[in-house]
Amino acid sequence: MVEKIINEIKVRFENDSSGHDWFHIERVWRMANFIQEKEGGDKEIVELAALLHDISDHKMNGGILNHGGTVATEILTKFNLSKDKILRIAEIIDQVSFKGANVSDKPTSLEAKIVQDADRLDAIGAIGIGRAFAYGGSKNRLMYDPAIPPTSHTSFEEYAKSKSHTINHFHEKLLLLKDRLHTETAKNIGKQRELFLKDFLEQFMNEWNFNNLEK
Ligand code: ADP
Ligand code: NI
Repeated sequence: MVEKIINEIKVRFENDSSGHDWFHIERVWRMANFIQEKEGGDKEIVELAALLHDISDHKMNGGILNHGGTVATEILTKFNLSKDKILRIAEIIDQVSFKGANVSDKPTSLEAKIVQDADRLDAIGAIGIGRAFAYGGSKNRLMYDPAIPPTSHTSFEEYAKSKSHTINHFHEKLLLLKDRLHTETAKNIGKQRELFLKDFLEQFMNEWNFNNLEK
């Protein structure tokens, strides 16, 4: 079953250049499995929710919010899974995504926490930086504009609509993620990735402002 679902997902994500390619899904799936081995929870639910977590993201489906659970249910109904399991997986998918600095997004089950942690770890560190600029490029965004400060969004709609430069995304989302990880396993991995993000930002600003150059 997992193999069939992977094939179905691969086709849908093949041509994405916004940071939501199949390799993102694969990393989240592998990371979720890694965290589940250490933290426990239902392996099948973790694995399927991780594979399907971005199946209908609002940034790629024309702006429909919270639609992933419905699409995942359609796919999973084709397989021999209990209704209860499908419901639990769909619930995780609707809980996983980041919805803005001041919007609560608390996952309710251990499995949801694991999938959200795995997804968030892929948004920070070197790969997270690469994904942010790839996403910004795909939307014709500037890397940075010092005249436009970051915003602290208070609703998902407002966050989803925002069209800022990519450096703002670090302040509006990426730097907030470390403190929103749930499992100890993910927190340990997140610490190092967050340091890397901060080093990157410092270096970026130094280069932008011609700091520390020999006269
Ligand atoms: P995820 O796949 O982790 O749920 P998202 O769907 O929010 O994350 O975004 C996919 C990738 O694109 C992530 O690496 C995220 O940081 C990046 N991204 C999302 N929104 C923006 C933005 N406004 N500017 C730059 N990068 C973004
Ligand atoms: Ni994702």
